[in-house]
Amino acid sequence: SISYLNGEYQPLAEARISPLDRGFLFGDGIYEVIPYYGGKSVGLMPHINRMINGLAAIEIKNSHTAEEWKTLLDDLVERNADMGENLGVYVHISRGTDVKRYHPYPENVEPTIFCFCFGIKDPEPLDRSAVTQYSLVSTEDLRWQRCHIKSTALLGNVMHFQEGYSTGADEALLYNANNELTEGSSCNVFVVKDGKISTPIQDNQILPGITRRIILDSLKSDGNLDVEERIITMDEVRNADELWITSSSKEIAPVTKLDGQPVGNGEVGEIWEQAFKVYTASKF
Ligand code: PDD
Repeated sequence: SISYLNGEYQPLAEARISPLDRGFLFGDGIYEVIPYYGGKSVGLMPHINRMINGLAAIEIKNSHTAEEWKTLLDDLVERNADMGENLGVYVHISRGTDVKRYHPYPENVEPTIFCFCFGIKDPEPLDRSAVTQYSLVSTEDLRWQRCHIKSTALLGNVMHFQEGYSTGADEALLYNANNELTEGSSCNVFVVKDGKISTPIQDNQILPGITRRIILDSLKSDGNLDVEERIITMDEVRNADELWITSSSKEIAPVTKLDGQPVGNGEVGEIWEQAFKVYTASKF
């Protein structure tokens, strides 16, 4: 696989950065993961814009326009066409390599830009009996209060993911100190009750997911399903008919078990199927 590092293309296994890189020492950086199916990206411009906003939020210099980022990423996917039909692109921009370990933002240091491609699965079938079902465990969200920034400092997320993984679940579902749903450790969450779809509002407690945005926009313009952004309590989550997790790699994934209990009737719901159909028709 061919990676991109600071303007150079080279095999991923040969790419090298300094141990003094602030991404390594402090997790001081911004990242993105963008899916490409058959060479076509999903949400590329929203991903790039979120990345540019993230860089501005932590005052890392952005050396590329949105159009230049698009060209760079599309080109990297083309160079890796032999890796498979469906690829994810990982983009990582750290504040750069300083001459010593020192907390303040350094001046006159160039950001480190690193990108590589990895194989991703085919989209799931639009079929309630064949789609992969997910099992979640819930736990209090103990990450930081800037979850809207897609920071490379993912220890909080990784620790929560492991809480689910170590007990045989696929993801951790997170709630705040007020018992309100936030998101998953690597995904956003949607809840369905009596045919109504809802997802937590976009604030500092969640990542503004691109998949979440595409789902909201496509469902609203389709107009056949009722969807809203609002505060959702954990009691509502536990009484939901359907629960979905969404991300660039999972698209819309149905959750049929939460804390060992069935979600709704324990089967993949029909609103999931309708929503996944609408999303699939508009994702490119
Ligand atoms: N995860 N929330 C969190 C905490 C995430 O890490 C992600 C994405 C999402 C969904 O965002 P999007 O729809 O833009 O992918 C929500 C990425 C894919 C990852 O770290 O692998």
